[in-house]
Amino acid sequence: MAKDVIIACDFDSKEKVMNFLSLFKDKKPFVKIGMELYYAEGPAIVKELKENGHKIFLDLKLHDIPNTVKKAMAVLSRLDVDMCNLHASGATQMMKGALEGLTRPDGTRPILIGVTQLTSTDQETMERDLLIKEPIDKVVMHYALTAKNAGLDGVVCSPLEAEKVHDVCGKEFVTVTPGIRFADGDVGDQKRIMTPKEARRIGSDYIVVGRPITAAEDPVAAYERCVREFVLGE
Ligand code: C5P
Repeated sequence: MAKDVIIACDFDSKEKVMNFLSLFKDKKPFVKIGMELYYAEGPAIVKELKENGHKIFLDLKLHDIPNTVKKAMAVLSRLDVDMCNLHASGATQMMKGALEGLTRPDGTRPILIGVTQLTSTDQETMERDLLIKEPIDKVVMHYALTAKNAGLDGVVCSPLEAEKVHDVCGKEFVTVTPGIRFADGDVGDQKRIMTPKEARRIGSDYIVVGRPITAAEDPVAAYERCVREFVLGE
């Protein structure tokens, strides 16, 4: 599995994302488009960034009945994204429907990853609001294994969980990890964090990095530092 750095383009307009990406000149980093940008600009922003040469992780976290997710995924697949995701809590039939919908006539499809428990959910919230009484680590691993058995390619998880996910689901099962901060950087609102270097060491496949790059004084230098630490292991 080729490692890569995915920049979380958490902007609310095309103008802002284009201004940001213009800093990179001929470099075309892998970008994540989340709900904020997608709901602001629609499919056109996905098409435009793809045409400009970027790989795209469309982070819309689908969760609905299997037939609805299957049909929605078929539409997203036509946008030619490289990676997309859903909530693994939608269960096996929904995940299988998603895979069917994503598969293009030529047999190719984007990488499909599952969200296990959101990192904003802690043990107490899970027990109180979701009535799930098992330890959260066990729940995350169970969701990861269920996603794997449904045919998904991997999961989004905290970098602290990536090693265990690989132990439980195998090395080929992709781990996509946000919560990345430089050793000398601001932590912000992220709680369970790792540096790009540590994320490489524990075997994460993709890191998703937002503010350490988007809010840096020199975003291109910050991106290149992520690539050196995470991809090249320098
Ligand atoms: O700015 P920062 O590096 O914290 O951005 C991380 C990105 O990863 C954001 O787009 C955030 O929504 C996303 N994310 C996360 N934790 C998750 C899932 C997604 O931080 N568990």
